Amino acid sequence: MPTMADVARSAGVSVATVSHVLNGTRPVLPHTRQAVLDAVEELGYTPNGLARSLVTSRTRSIGLAVSAISNPYFTEILQGVESSALEHGYSLLIADPHDDPAHERKVVQLLHERRVDGVIVAPSAQPRELVAYLTRHAVPAVFLDRLVHAAADDGEREAPGFDQVCAENAEPTAALVTHLASLGHRRIGLVAGLPGLSTTSERINGYRHGLAAAGLPHDERLVVHGDSSADGAERATASLLSLAVPPTALVTANNAMTIGALRALRERDLSVPGDMALCCFDDFDWADLFSPRLTAVAQPGRELGARAVRVLLDRLAAPDRPARTLRLPCTFVHRTSCGCPARPEKGTDT
Ligand code: HPA
Repeated sequence: MPTMADVARSAGVSVATVSHVLNGTRPVLPHTRQAVLDAVEELGYTPNGLARSLVTSRTRSIGLAVSAISNPYFTEILQGVESSALEHGYSLLIADPHDDPAHERKVVQLLHERRVDGVIVAPSAQPRELVAYLTRHAVPAVFLDRLVHAAADDGEREAPGFDQVCAENAEPTAALVTHLASLGHRRIGLVAGLPGLSTTSERINGYRHGLAAAGLPHDERLVVHGDSSADGAERATASLLSLAVPPTALVTANNAMTIGALRALRERDLSVPGDMALCCFDDFDWADLFSPRLTAVAQPGRELGARAVRVLLDRLAAPDRPARTLRLPCTFVHRTSCGCPARPEKGTDT
């Protein structure tokens, strides 16, 4: 196998110059650089990533820790992270923290021990240990999807020093509620996610704003926690259906909970939208194949993943830059489970 010394000899330059060309560690005159690249091509030289890491103290790898990788939303995020990382010459190490705070800290530690250049994490509902670890070891990190707030006496503020990338949650949820209200619904239930996640609280806030905007009263009994899972949502929907005055419309706060709510409705032979109108947070490939077709808010999963990579690379390039939080808009995908007659699908940014 040809070595760097072979490349240097063939190009008539020093090994250090070859290293600077291949690692971009110092500017090299264009004709010298071309001679090195020609020699690399001619000899079929493959750089040794391990040796390069020793020189640069960088592995050109990113650690990604997201729970529920099998969830189509996170699969889209993963695709966005992977393609953006590849585009920038980075490889990916993936871990699943299973939404468990202790496991989360452990997998991030493992990624750090593998000396990834930085991590992208969708934090659990109790990210205290995670934040402490990242802070103590100064690991460049971007929080994705769920925002981390530092507890403060004067309320909540965003975690100091961490970049964060997430979708809009409140406004799109409010749009689902006002849409149902515009169709005449007065009792609209919310199947909410796991307590402690920013996505959960922001979607609950959006639900409340939607009710207020439509001039509807807020009835606490209509908000139930489906814990972000299909099973949890099935139970939560059952409890809504057993209220003395059940809702006539439902908003489900993520894709898994939509499945659970549909199961609970089917169990009771209730039809959508005839017996219960339904609007969902999260679009997924087969939402269009359900009967009725699901009216949903689509999150920009791939874009979220790609932006998280770019934010992390910006952080690596400028470690002292102020932390920022990016929010990306969602799209309202208007189909028929809300009770509207069949019409061409239309997406609007919310
Ligand atoms: N966050 C945001 N959206 C989601 C999630 C989540 O954890 N799961 C499914 N859709």
